[in-house]
Amino acid sequence: MTHPTNIVILTGAGISAESGIQTFRASDGLWHNHRIEEVATPQGFAKNPALVHEFYNARRQQLRDPAVQPNAAHLALVRLEREHSGNVLIVTQNVDDLHERAGSDNLLHMHGELNKIRCNHCGTGYECQEDIGTHTACNHCGKTGGMRPHIVWFREMPLYMDTIETALLNCDLFISIGTSGNVYPAAGFVEVARNNGAHTLELNLDPSSNSGLFHKSINGLASKIVPAFVESLLSHTI
Ligand code: OAD
Repeated sequence: MTHPTNIVILTGAGISAESGIQTFRASDGLWHNHRIEEVATPQGFAKNPALVHEFYNARRQQLRDPAVQPNAAHLALVRLEREHSGNVLIVTQNVDDLHERAGSDNLLHMHGELNKIRCNHCGTGYECQEDIGTHTACNHCGKTGGMRPHIVWFREMPLYMDTIETALLNCDLFISIGTSGNVYPAAGFVEVARNNGAHTLELNLDPSSNSGLFHKSINGLASKIVPAFVESLLSHTI
């Protein structure tokens, strides 16, 4: 691998697992106790908004638990962003705020953010760390009944796709960390980057669904393998 200039990093639930946040598809993951159709689709929200608010309120509350803190993998990516001579962009599928709490600046939340809500009546979005419900009034238009989590649900379009595509086409190293490779378009980023000449690397606990598409795969805990990789990249030993 030649030393890269432009690095794009895709992260998923696995990078936050050691911070105490459940992944989705593990045997104790979120999608084993909740039905995607009910809590993560626009149709589910239209049918039972109270249930959807309850699901996301609980997850938003969890971010305020003092035990939930960025781990060594989040911190290693901050180090990479600060010390690498070229560009580092993190594209995260995660809706937690651990990358920004660690100190990452160049960060896109393609699946939205738990700490933001938006109004279906007027379209305004803003920061919110509290519980919301069907009774919550919009700070902007004042109407109730329209507030929703700022989360990209299944059948909705992920955010920042134009910026992400440009970055993928221009990167010379693409790294995927802690994602199972089940959800598109994120699962297809490796092919976009690789077809445009980037070196591609997977850092994950176990081989993901599309592990075979990467030039190299390293398996282990994110808190161990991400700092080790960052150290070797910055010291030019790979
Ligand atoms: P998944 O739960 O599908 O996958 C998490 C991956 O992280 C798995 O491959 C695990 O092996 C790995 N993993 C777990 N613990 C790890 C650790 N300590 N270190 C390294 N890897 C670890 O989560 P995502 O791939 O992020 O979307 O899921 C993608 C999307 O599906 C989510 O953004 C969410 C979900 O439905 C929406 O809600 C829109």
